[in-house]
Amino acid sequence: MERNSNSNIIIRIRTPPCLILLFLCLFLSSISLAIATRPLPLLDNFNTNKLLFSPTFNRIYDISNYGRFQLFNGLAQTPQMGWNSWNFFACNINETVIKETADALISTGLADLGYVYVNIDDCWSKETRNLKDQLVPDQKTFPSGIKALADYVHAKALKLGIYSDAGVFTCQVRPGSLYHEDEDAELFASWGVDYLKYDNCFNLGIPPKKRYPPMRDALNATERPIFYSLCEWGVDDPALWAGKVGNSWRTTDDINDSWASMTTIADLNDKWASYAGPGGWNDPDMLEVGNGGMTYNEYRAHFSIWALMKAPLLIGCDIRNMTAETLKILSNTEVIGVNQDSLGVQGRKVHASGPNSCQQVWAGPLSGNRLVVALWNRCSSAALITAEWNVLGLQSSVSVSIRDLWKHDIVAADAVSSFGTSVEPHDCAMYIFTPEMLESYSVM
Ligand SMILES: *[C@@H]1O[C@H](CO)[C@@H](O)[C@H](O)[C@H]1NC(C)=O
Ligand SMILES: *[C@@H]1O[C@H](CO)[C@@H](O)[C@H](O)[C@H]1NC(C)=O
Ligand SMILES: *[C@@H]1O[C@H](CO)[C@@H](O)[C@H](O)[C@H]1NC(C)=O
Ligand SMILES: *[C@@H]1O[C@H](CO)[C@@H](O)[C@H](O)[C@H]1NC(C)=O
Repeated sequence: MERNSNSNIIIRIRTPPCLILLFLCLFLSSISLAIATRPLPLLDNFNTNKLLFSPTFNRIYDISNYGRFQLFNGLAQTPQMGWNSWNFFACNINETVIKETADALISTGLADLGYVYVNIDDCWSKETRNLKDQLVPDQKTFPSGIKALADYVHAKALKLGIYSDAGVFTCQVRPGSLYHEDEDAELFASWGVDYLKYDNCFNLGIPPKKRYPPMRDALNATERPIFYSLCEWGVDDPALWAGKVGNSWRTTDDINDSWASMTTIADLNDKWASYAGPGGWNDPDMLEVGNGGMTYNEYRAHFSIWALMKAPLLIGCDIRNMTAETLKILSNTEVIGVNQDSLGVQGRKVHASGPNSCQQVWAGPLSGNRLVVALWNRCSSAALITAEWNVLGLQSSVSVSIRDLWKHDIVAADAVSSFGTSVEPHDCAMYIFTPEMLESYSVM
């Protein structure tokens, strides 16, 4: 499944000198191979721009595994955005809810902001396969069938996602796709499905590394580009192997609608930051924003950190009935822009201080020599949180323009050496840092 652009590059460099100098040829080949294992241009400016970035930059933002493995189905160049039925509806779904949700994505303007996947989770199918051994939609809740739903969402320029399981049953005990990968993938493709979330229940104790690749190959064989979302709950450290299997891989157990769950999952997902990149993303699970278990500040922090971590932005509330506050969080185009930035490097926790390390600085590189910086107060009282330039990988003399992504305003035009602000309890301030490329730098 790995791309073979290596050989092109090697041949191009190799052929002429090979005839003359065998050693030079081998030398150049090995260089080109080393370069070609990274299929995408990366951080070139950051690496070379020593006037702006400190020597520690590449250690702070370790990207040694970025783009190392990739599933080349052309999808997931940025993290997936859309909605999934599980966090709010669980098993209480039907075609009406799915259609009304598609309608609401359009009427709220969320679709225009990039939320295009309408993903049906568990409970869409009957308890048994039919006589032809095929999966069948539940006639009571999906009487028109999945193809009709796909047509409905496609007519709105949205995409349809479905759910199955790399085991003998799904978690809600519908038939799973283990040993039925080829037929099920073919059926999904025939319905016009665009996305598969593939769960991990009833897996017979067979390792994920054995159960997930057959569905990748089955989806590929359909010749329809289908986003492949692995959900093995992080049990077998999927970041280490799933990049060439799926477009995203869950790194943790299920999220729930609480501050404790959200913060725990953020920390667990952070560990795998160096493995994310265009084509394959760490997945700390779907958003709980709007489900009522957290405060406005907590949801704002949840959304900020998920965006910064290049997590999938899959809305998990009932978007047919959102509060203005919920819509305000989910539709922050500047925060979405961080998530969808073309560089595709996962931001991470770069500093923590205070009681229980609750005053945190999270940051990551963005395209155009910019950084995203979040000051996240996980303490129970307000705190002054400061980001020092050395913690961010910036040269301390560099002057930085700072834009607040929640205030939608430039809050400092030429900050030098550090920037701090008071952050409410459980809130998160989020910024884009643009180091100023002074004329004198380029002239000198
Ligand atoms: C199938 O895999 C090949 C090889 O990686 C890739 O070039 C192609 O785009 C894939 N097709 C689909 C539909 O995923
Ligand atoms: C569809 O599901 C929703 C959400 O659970 C429920 O409110 C509604 O009554 C259901 N509609 C039908 C026709 O079953
Ligand atoms: C939610 O997750 C937290 C943290 O993992 C856990 O302590 C809590 O028991 C979970 N709550 C529910 C209702 O599952
Ligand atoms: C809409 O959401 C509110 C809470 O924000 C809830 O009280 C109400 O029951 C919901 N209405 C419907 C029709 O689901």
